[in-house]
Amino acid sequence: MSGQTFVWKGKDVPFRSGESIAAALEAAGVFSFGTDTFGQDFRYFCGIGACQGCLVRVDGLLREACLTVARPGMRVGSPEDGHD
Ligand code: FES
Repeated sequence: MSGQTFVWKGKDVPFRSGESIAAALEAAGVFSFGTDTFGQDFRYFCGIGACQGCLVRVDGLLREACLTVARPGMRVGSPEDGHD
């Protein structure tokens, strides 16, 4: 392990260089990234940026977790949070 982490809802999540946010969250046991207006979970599904199912908020901006490479210190939260 490289010792790099980002912050998910106030908790440090480790990741390997080049790993996506979605992969790191799943490795950390986080399988729901939030809930949409219909009550459905945001989660890792297609892995190629097609379904928009893995939306998260990264440093205040909506991003696909499967396409966004984790960086040290980034603040990640649910889309509905508006912030971490
Ligand atoms: S898992 Fe489908 S867009 Fe990320």
